[in-house]
Amino acid sequence: MYPETRMRRCRRSGLRALAAETVLTRHDLVLPIFVVPGTGRHEEVRSMPGVHRVSADVLAEGADAILSPAVLVFGVPEAGQKDEEGTGALREDGLVPTAVRALKRQRPDLVVITDVCLCAYTSHGHCGVLGPDGQPDNDATLPALAQMARCHAAAGADLAAPSAMMDGQVAAIREGLDGEGRREVGIMSYAAKFASAFYGPFRDAAGSAPAQGDRRGYQLPPSNRREALRDALLDELEGADWLMVKPALPYLDVLAELRRQTRLPLSAYQVSGEYAMLKQGARQGQWDEREAVLEALTCIKRAGADLIITYYAEEVHRWLEA
Ligand code: PBG
Repeated sequence: MYPETRMRRCRRSGLRALAAETVLTRHDLVLPIFVVPGTGRHEEVRSMPGVHRVSADVLAEGADAILSPAVLVFGVPEAGQKDEEGTGALREDGLVPTAVRALKRQRPDLVVITDVCLCAYTSHGHCGVLGPDGQPDNDATLPALAQMARCHAAAGADLAAPSAMMDGQVAAIREGLDGEGRREVGIMSYAAKFASAFYGPFRDAAGSAPAQGDRRGYQLPPSNRREALRDALLDELEGADWLMVKPALPYLDVLAELRRQTRLPLSAYQVSGEYAMLKQGARQGQWDEREAVLEALTCIKRAGADLIITYYAEEVHRWLEA
């Protein structure tokens, strides 16, 4: 007890760093990438200053400069390329496979993860094939997700990251990959993905907002931790190699509890809305961007994330090097 015990002893500069329990490193970060059709395209996302959508050729040209050890690739087709079934996602020469090939040719060392979900490819913007009730038909969507993952794997992706929140999607994708002899390709499941308002800027970036209704019929309710844990642990049983919690900052309790309940590696997705908040606050002079971002990411790691998917990945790299 005070006055013999003094907590401030180890908070003096120098000692403070030695006593750090959690240290954010460059190996902890994954950079999301948005790929658009065509050539020569490099367009800033309006709602996410500093984030760009690029065509595959521009991506390949810039590949040598990518500092993050891993990327997560999203395809963003044009409105005219979408249809009811999201068939644009199921082609071996589609947007994402083309981008993956270009990346791997240029940077074989880069870990390439691909988002597996139909929402950017369907005309209605939902994450699966619609049933008569206007909601995604779970079982009818599974073969499409498996096919999508197979196309990504054939192009050289290292991990498929299913984010559609269909029941059984991890097992269906594992079976699909194994059926093609792609046993080395892993699955990073968006296991605990909540129906979150913080995806707003992403839907602008990916043009993937549902035309009607919302995603509450398949994504997790923000109020439910037990349900999230149950869902995530089912993905482990289905064969997931990694589990993810998403969004990150408002769901640290879920992340921490999942860390206790599984031995799988965990990732957390600092989503578009979290990025936009940090960015806007910094632009308005509310906080120092570097300090705020490093704090948020360190806290996400402290809660249990082995890996953090963040639009700040490249900037953080430069900050950590400096
Ligand atoms: C696709 C998907 C979404 C995000 C990642 N994959 C959007 C959604 O579910 O509406 C969100 C990522 C972000 O907000 O940064 N289903």
